Amino acid sequence: MPSRFYVTTPIYYINAPPHLGTAYSTIAADVLTRYHRVRGESGFFLTGTDEHGLKIEREAQAQGSSVEDFSNKMSALFRAIWPKLDCNYDYFVRTTDADHEKRVGEIWERVKAKGDLYAGSYEGWYCVGCEAYYTEKELEPGGVCPLHKKPIERIREPTYFFKLSSYADRLLDLYERHPTFVQPTTRLNEVKAFVKGGLDDLSVSRTTFSWGVPVPGDPAHVMYVWFDALFSYLTPMLASPDRRPFWPAKLHVVGKDILRFHAVYWPAFLMSAGLELPEQVYAHGFLTFNGHKMSKTLLNVVDPIALAGAFGVDTIRYYLMRAIAFGQDGDFNVKELVSRYNADLGNTLGNLCNRVLKLTGGTFPEKGEPEELEKELYAGLAASARAASRAFDAVQPHRALEAIWQVLGATNQYIDRAAPWAATKRGDARRAGTILATALEVLEAVSVMTWPVMPKSSDALRAQIGLGAVATGSRDLWPFEPPRGRAGEPLGTAVPLFPRVDADREKELVAKLGLPSAAEDDAAKSPTGETAAAPAVGKPPAPATLAYEEFAKLDLRVGVVLEAKRVAGKDKLLSLAVDLGEPEPRPIIAGLALSFRPEELIGTRVVVVANLEPRKFGKDLVSRGMLLAAGPSEGLRLATVDASVPAGTKVK
Ligand code: MSP
Repeated sequence: MPSRFYVTTPIYYINAPPHLGTAYSTIAADVLTRYHRVRGESGFFLTGTDEHGLKIEREAQAQGSSVEDFSNKMSALFRAIWPKLDCNYDYFVRTTDADHEKRVGEIWERVKAKGDLYAGSYEGWYCVGCEAYYTEKELEPGGVCPLHKKPIERIREPTYFFKLSSYADRLLDLYERHPTFVQPTTRLNEVKAFVKGGLDDLSVSRTTFSWGVPVPGDPAHVMYVWFDALFSYLTPMLASPDRRPFWPAKLHVVGKDILRFHAVYWPAFLMSAGLELPEQVYAHGFLTFNGHKMSKTLLNVVDPIALAGAFGVDTIRYYLMRAIAFGQDGDFNVKELVSRYNADLGNTLGNLCNRVLKLTGGTFPEKGEPEELEKELYAGLAASARAASRAFDAVQPHRALEAIWQVLGATNQYIDRAAPWAATKRGDARRAGTILATALEVLEAVSVMTWPVMPKSSDALRAQIGLGAVATGSRDLWPFEPPRGRAGEPLGTAVPLFPRVDADREKELVAKLGLPSAAEDDAAKSPTGETAAAPAVGKPPAPATLAYEEFAKLDLRVGVVLEAKRVAGKDKLLSLAVDLGEPEPRPIIAGLALSFRPEELIGTRVVVVANLEPRKFGKDLVSRGMLLAAGPSEGLRLATVDASVPAGTKVK
């Protein structure tokens, strides 16, 4: 019996159509399910729509529609869109499904029977955008939601509380015993800190509106939308004997903004109901678009289907999975998309295939004895296959693609060095055949490894090298061993897999999509968000070169952010304490407040200019260093190094 791998996306709110952010979660979940299928596992992929709650009720009203009609229309939109991005879910759940509502009612009864629900009254802050309760100290100055940056609502109503406070120890024990339950580790640390800070009981029902699952036995209440929605990962699994064995889920893919619900509330609800816990919650980062934060207006413009229509579904899937380190924030940048398309897909992969096929003719060549060059390439292939599988297993698709592209690069070099054309010229057809057959074998192996990310292009590549589409089943197809030569078998026709997009075509596509152009970005802004002095006239002067001795005067060090807080009255500044491996952490004032929430920075490794003259900010604030960062002031990215480099290490 193959092992089962159940992956979920968040169950999306339907107040707005799918956008690039939700497409990112969905594509990642699809890629990971496909990877496990290629490994011979039985994959199950669930997505769906979260339709209850005040946010949806208000949006339906604003659109002059009944909430039922609105939900039906929007849910159908989500259902239809994902397959257009080749995201092939196995089940689409709606929180308004009668079966879900019935089952979540039964679960409520179990939690109640356990003694974990009690009636009371809630007074406090609620953000309808997040559908979340906030404490006073979590809000930003002026009573503003830290995520939506808008004033939030004060509510006071009778409610049922869930005894979350009594689960703190069990949750901490879970994180201790099962540290991969929440990933990446920096996020696990945030969750632990949150729980250690003390948990209040959670209000899990609402009485001031009715668009929700009715609380059994108390029709004045509807369930808090997150109680209802989280269980939609489970209820479809309980509803069918075929699906039942897929619970517990192996992986919940979520954005970092909804981690608390998944890493704290969800396991506590499941423990209370006596149900098995999922294996892992993986929180990915947030995307900006050409350096712009995804505002509501921008989300309307950046339609993933239109993007895929212009650049190709696989290009978007590849780009999102390759260019953005999974787990970290990243920028979807059209310039970089086109350049990766031309370089990684067009040149490294597409041209390699084209070149090999053109040199080969229509038949898979006969192989002779492998020489040193072949042995080296096979070793590279085996190493890539191992590294890519390890990376996919660790939910690091960007690293998997990096490893796959490493062997593609090596194969291009191999062709240049082995020079099959020279062998042909000197009449050594066997040697030429060996070289081309070896390259074809690598392409076959690669077509399996790229398939989870680019299913259509990988199958098209396979057709060109004379193979059928990847057929997943109970067999592990991962090419840990190089594929065997298929001497004498027919090959397909060489057609460019990724035709080049030149600058004119890029402009044309960008204009057609009505996208904000990358050139409009705040290129003239310094990393601290201050506008650099514009050059007097004409083009900016070319940067002067620097003697190495000058550069060497800079003391660049790896630092770890220990504390981060806002600076009263300065909306761009954060005040940080950064460990530079010195006896005391360094106080650093940085212009990062428009790009990061203070708590996201804790634990981040940064690169610090450590020997800059101290700079005063107002009366009491002195900055003793500067962080390196790039991008516009609202979408800065920090220069960083990986976790293996200790604080204080010199950057050279
Ligand atoms: N309905 C809840 C989830 C309930 S799960 C039981 C919800 N829905 S959502 O539609 O608002 O968000 C879904 C996902 O989209 C989240 O994982 C969120 O992080 C992700 N994204 C929304 N904007 C994003 C970016 N700009 N970038 C990356 N992902 C983002 O929350």
